[in-house]
Amino acid sequence: MEKTDRIVAGMMRLGSLGDQEAFSFLDYLYDSGVRWFDHADIYGGGRCEELFGRWIQSRGHSRGDLVIQSKCGIVPGVCYDNSGEYIEKSVDGILSRLKCEYLDYILIHRPDVLWDPDDMNAAFTRLIKSGKIRAFGLSNCNSVQIDYLLSSMEHKPAINQIQLSLAFAPSISEGLESNTYSDNGISRTMGVIDFCRCHGITLQAWSPLQYGTFAGTFLNNPAYEKLNGRLSELAYKYGVGKSAVAAAWILRIPPHTQVVAGTCNRDHFAEMLKARDITITRQEWYELYRCAGYALP
Ligand SMILES: NC(=O)c1ccc[n+]([C@@H]2O[C@H](COP(=O)([O-])OP(=O)(O)OC[C@H]3O[C@@H](n4cnc5c(N)ncnc54)[C@H](OP(=O)(O)O)[C@@H]3O)[C@@H](O)[C@H]2O)c1
Repeated sequence: MEKTDRIVAGMMRLGSLGDQEAFSFLDYLYDSGVRWFDHADIYGGGRCEELFGRWIQSRGHSRGDLVIQSKCGIVPGVCYDNSGEYIEKSVDGILSRLKCEYLDYILIHRPDVLWDPDDMNAAFTRLIKSGKIRAFGLSNCNSVQIDYLLSSMEHKPAINQIQLSLAFAPSISEGLESNTYSDNGISRTMGVIDFCRCHGITLQAWSPLQYGTFAGTFLNNPAYEKLNGRLSELAYKYGVGKSAVAAAWILRIPPHTQVVAGTCNRDHFAEMLKARDITITRQEWYELYRCAGYALP
C-alpha cells in the first residue's frame, strides 16, 4: 500500500461546510497528497457526495488519480437493506451525485440479517461488468458474517471498515485477553482483525480519535488523563501532535491498516497526516494500549 493511502479522508462531516469552505478543504487535502476518500450515500443526506462531485468536476482532477469508496445499505425508515436491487439503485445514485463513472469500492455499510449472498453476488457481477464498481467491501462486519459471504460468493470483499481507536478497541482486547475471565476478553467481533489478516482483507479504522460511538474524542479529555499524558510524551519525542501518535498506533497494526480521519479542520487534518511519517515502537504500542485503560494478562 502506498504511504499516501494510509490516511483516508472521511467525508461524513463535509456537508456541514458551506460550498466554498468545502472546496477549499478538498483542495487542501489534494495538495497534501490525500487521494483516498470515504463516502456513504447517507452522509449529509447525499450532500457530502454531491459537494465532492461538484469539486472534482470544477477542478478537472483525473479520476484515475483518486480512490473513491462509498457505502450503502443503511436506509432511513427501513434500517438495513443489502438486497442486490437496493445496492444497484444506491450505486446509481452515488455515481450521479459524485459525477463519476465508477467507484473503486462500494462498501456494505452494516450487516443485514436478511441479506442473501447469491442476490448480492449477482448484483456485484452486474456492477463490475458494467464498469460501475471495481470491487466491493464491507463495514462493521464480524468474522462469521464475512466468512458466510466468503463461502457463498464468487466476489470477495477487499475491505472491512470497523470502529477502532486507542479508546475503542474491543476488536483488539478480545484477542489479547481471550480465554480469561476479563470482560475485555469477551468476543464481540469473533476475531475480526485476525480473520481479515487471514483473508487479505484490508482493515479500515473509523472514528480513530473517538472513545465511543459518536461520543466525542479522547484527545484532551480529562477522563483519559493517563493516555493523554503518554500521547504528549510521544508527540514530543516524534515531533508531531497527539492525534498523529494516536493514528500511528492504528497504522502500526500489520499488514494493511488504514485510518479513516473525519475532521474537516485543516490544522487537525494536517496533524493526523504526520502519522504516515512515524512508526512507534512495539513497547510504545503496548504502553499506549494500557494507558487507554486496557489490561494485559
Ligand atoms: N463505517 C461506518 O459505520 C462509519 C461510521 C462513522 C464514521 N465513518 C467514517 O469515519 C470517518 C471518521 O469518523 P469521525 O469523524 O467520527 O472520527 P475522528 O476522525 O475520530 O474524529 C472525531 C473528532 O475528533 C476531533 N479531532 C480531530 N483532530 C483533532 C485534534 N487534533 N484535536 C482535537 N480534536 C480533534 C474532530 O473534531 P474537529 O472536527 O473539530 O476537528 C472530530 O470531531 C467519517 O468521516 C466517515 O468517513 C464510518
